[in-house]
Amino acid sequence: MPIDEADYADRPSSARIYDALLGGSHNFAADRAAAQKLLEAIPYAGDLARRNRTFLRRAVDHMLAAGVRQFLDVGSGIPTAGNVHEITGRTAPEARVVYVDIDPVAVAHSRDILAENPVATAVQADVRFPDALLAHPVVTEMIDFTRPIGLLMVSMLHFLPDEDAYVAVERLRSVLAPGSYIAISHGVVETPADASADQVASIYRRTDVSVATGRTRAEILRFFGTAELVPPGLVWLHEWPAPPAAGEGPENMAVLAGVGRVTGAA
Ligand SMILES: C[S@@+](CC[C@H](N)C(=O)[O-])C[C@H]1O[C@@H](n2cnc3c(N)ncnc32)[C@H](O)[C@@H]1O
Repeated sequence: MPIDEADYADRPSSARIYDALLGGSHNFAADRAAAQKLLEAIPYAGDLARRNRTFLRRAVDHMLAAGVRQFLDVGSGIPTAGNVHEITGRTAPEARVVYVDIDPVAVAHSRDILAENPVATAVQADVRFPDALLAHPVVTEMIDFTRPIGLLMVSMLHFLPDEDAYVAVERLRSVLAPGSYIAISHGVVETPADASADQVASIYRRTDVSVATGRTRAEILRFFGTAELVPPGLVWLHEWPAPPAAGEGPENMAVLAGVGRVTGAA
């Protein structure tokens, strides 16, 4: 699908701001301006984005080692280095990957790079309507809901207000067979970055998602439902699955991350 910058000139998107933070090339002037403001509010936002991608890779590797062979990456973003299908392709080329994003640019670029890939694809959908997402013909064709799924919601749920977020995640969890996994990373309140929360919220108010809301540890834990947290539990982004050597990591990253294993009804 051809993308015309003029359609997006005035309204940044969370996907393209994130792409700009990662140094990607699929963003427009409005997105870069918003990313710059974000860096003024949170100077380590670029590091945060890169460490988020590292968490994604580690979580997918963990799920692959546990035998998961199908992945639903919700809020997948604009393809960049280390996409899920690249990670699975190294050790389990048969693994299926469905990327889901609300952003048309993210979905168009994902489809471009996946055009020749029979086991990975991208659909445009809004997770606030989980029934529509789960009933999407591509999703039902690619994903076998009787088998374990790796459900990824990485750096995405803080763009949903409470009234949408918990209902949507509960619905997605409800279709996960035992042996499935859920990976979540999520911005937190209660950190030294709190002072910038208002600035961040005001930057995102002008974007496609309108909302950027940090949550407390307890509020983030609720997203896992009855899934059992894999050790070390819900930890700072860069500490999963193990903390870096002393002095090698920041004290915190304003983002918590964890992986849960579904054992029964989730
Ligand atoms: C910060 S990016 C994270 C991308 C990727 N998960 C990662 O960690 O590298 C957040 C993504 O969530 C997507 N998103 C936000 N709200 C969404 C919604 N309601 N439904 C689907 N995707 C959404 C955005 O378009 C964006 O691509």
